[in-house]
Amino acid sequence: MRMSLRLILLLVITVTLISILFALYQVREDTHARQSDLEKRAQVLAESLQETVDPLWMRGARGSLKRIVERFGNQERLDGVAIYDIQGRPTLVTPSLATRLGIEPPLIDRSVFEGHGWGHFFGSGRNSAHVYAVPIRADGSIVGALAVFHDASYIDDQNTKLWRDTFMHVLMQMLLIVAITLLVVRWSVERPVARLAQWLQDLRAGTIASNSELATEQVLRPLAREVTHLATSLQVARASAEEEARLREAADSLWTAERLRVFQETALEGSRLVVISNREPFMHVHRGSSVEALSPASGLVTAMEPVLRACAGTWIAHGAGDADRETVDAHDRLGVPPEAPAYTLRRVWLTAQQEERYYYGLANEGLWPLCHIAHTRPVFRAEDWEAYREVNAKFAEAVLEEIADVEHPTVLVQDYHFALLPRLIKGSRPDARVTIFWHIPWPNPEAFGICPWQRELLEGLLGADLIGFHIQSHCNNFLETIDRALESRIEWERFAVTKGGHVTSVRPFPISVDFKDNIPSHSNGYLSVRSERAALNGFNFQADYLGIGVDRLDYTKGIPERFRGIERFLEKHPSYQGRFTHVQIGAPSRTHIHRYQDLIADVEAEAERINQRFQTRQWKPIVFLKGHHNHDEIEPYYRMADLCLVTSLHDGMNLVAKEFVASRSDEEGVLILSLFAGASRELEDALIVNPYDTDQVAEAIRCALQMDSKEKRERMRRMRRVVKHYNIYRWAANLIGAVSEIRLEPIQRAKAAVAQSDASTTVQSSY
Ligand code: G6P
Repeated sequence: MRMSLRLILLLVITVTLISILFALYQVREDTHARQSDLEKRAQVLAESLQETVDPLWMRGARGSLKRIVERFGNQERLDGVAIYDIQGRPTLVTPSLATRLGIEPPLIDRSVFEGHGWGHFFGSGRNSAHVYAVPIRADGSIVGALAVFHDASYIDDQNTKLWRDTFMHVLMQMLLIVAITLLVVRWSVERPVARLAQWLQDLRAGTIASNSELATEQVLRPLAREVTHLATSLQVARASAEEEARLREAADSLWTAERLRVFQETALEGSRLVVISNREPFMHVHRGSSVEALSPASGLVTAMEPVLRACAGTWIAHGAGDADRETVDAHDRLGVPPEAPAYTLRRVWLTAQQEERYYYGLANEGLWPLCHIAHTRPVFRAEDWEAYREVNAKFAEAVLEEIADVEHPTVLVQDYHFALLPRLIKGSRPDARVTIFWHIPWPNPEAFGICPWQRELLEGLLGADLIGFHIQSHCNNFLETIDRALESRIEWERFAVTKGGHVTSVRPFPISVDFKDNIPSHSNGYLSVRSERAALNGFNFQADYLGIGVDRLDYTKGIPERFRGIERFLEKHPSYQGRFTHVQIGAPSRTHIHRYQDLIADVEAEAERINQRFQTRQWKPIVFLKGHHNHDEIEPYYRMADLCLVTSLHDGMNLVAKEFVASRSDEEGVLILSLFAGASRELEDALIVNPYDTDQVAEAIRCALQMDSKEKRERMRRMRRVVKHYNIYRWAANLIGAVSEIRLEPIQRAKAAVAQSDASTTVQSSY
């Protein structure tokens, strides 16, 4: 209210000032115009009378002169006429003139007797008047003067009227302004603000969720958006404070985003985390005329994104979206997540050829099949290797730029796209603590040995102070590969390699997901499981039992094998025909590569074949949903499925298995998990299968559907305990903790180590 009063006052003062200035100007102009008009009229009259008076004076016709003087009295605005002798004394005066101006008319200026016409305003208010005098001539000499007097008080009267009108206008305007402002304030400010306040009150009381829509007027929309973010942050803060309190109460040691944030601040002594990966957490793409931010299907992104949100560092990645360049600043940076920026994304640009050779070529046709033993033959091309080196060097430049002003920076390199990066960084910044986490399996030395550039890759990796894998057996394979391929000292008892005086530790850090104890309720936006199932009927099928599979369409995921397992199950247990449906969500991936195109065709053909074999009018055994689905779209499927099938032929960890477990707050659902996924080491309560064994997969499906609900709950509860306890925040804390404990070698020695391994590479490659 006080604000609206101030607003009104300001408006009123402004309008009044403007009106007064305008009126002043107008009064000045009008006065000037009227005065000069009067002056002109007086002059014309005086001069025309002069012509009559001059001969009469000469003739001494005093009677005629007197008549003229009397005739000109009391006419409209004309007060009268006076005739003066040469001494300037009035001799003949219109009688009414003397009555209005006093006993005698005023004296006139001497200049008139020298032959000039003379005009002058005098008096004020009701007595305001104007005189115009001209000389009277007889025989060529000046003998007196004739003066014409006008009443000028009407000019003042009109000015007074103008001021009165202006005052009335200002008054009306003020009343109008006050009324309109009050109305506007009431409709567009007070009401929406009251609604906002009510919404905040409801939020505080917990009767609505922070993500519930706040309807408000256009003008308040930016404010509403900010308030919504604030409310969400407050709710998250409240939830994590409650969670912390619960944990303290339970003397538990669960890791949360907040705990990780505090931990990393201490461990890294305030310096910001720098993460590098090929895949970016948010990719901007054109959708028609607008630009959309996508979160790509990637286990790496699923895992690292909450970590970066908690730690607020910098994530350097390839800008692969077709609208990526439009959304960065002049330094190729942007704040993400887009709706509430928490950390910095720095994009690195690659040419189409670099992407083709480094990403599709060496990384995904070479290293990916090399490390996953899934019976797809790796392809190694010299030009791909060149591009791989080039891109690693390009990323190194970006990293060095980002850490230029940081003392002892901590750098977390991610995955097989950047095997050369640790050494490139360490070579320029020996004071940096460098880690690389390998998200995919590491094969045995024989398998890895077929790579023509294994030595360069291994040496690049050994530039790191710490190398992380998901499981112990990948660490073992790595050390064995080093043992076979390089001159170095391996310490098996502490899992470390020393090469050229530089020590690299090799340790397992099983990656995980952000575990939220999300109890579904209408207020947090989750649909009930029942309505989710009903919604699925939109796909036009009916089923009593539901299986779910969520994968990138990759040959390592064992999707055709999974379908064949389902086929065998239906064959062996026909009572489930018409009752069990498997929904397969598949995100197309790396589709430039023939093997991936073949795989998609294969998956589609297998689904089609099996559906043809069993389907009825209302039911089909496999629903294949090809396309990118975000987490919110996938979550309901996890929550309503009776079982989740993860049948990777080989997988570093597989976070779908953990996401499924994390989303089952109802403690229902059975996980069928491949023996060859890293996750099977931790999730022992899943039904563990060999995906190549079709009968075993079929049997696991039967077992899952017939498992008694007590056992189901116990298994799920135990798995949830594992994922909850070993969540992504604990993973990051372990990794950051291990990096921060690294004792940096003296700079000279570190430089010498890099130089020495450069020399040995040259010698070796000259064979
Ligand atoms: C695996 C890799 C990640 C990669 C993801 C998706 O999880 O370890 O590095 O991001 O697959 O693959 P893409 O090639 O689409 O990034």
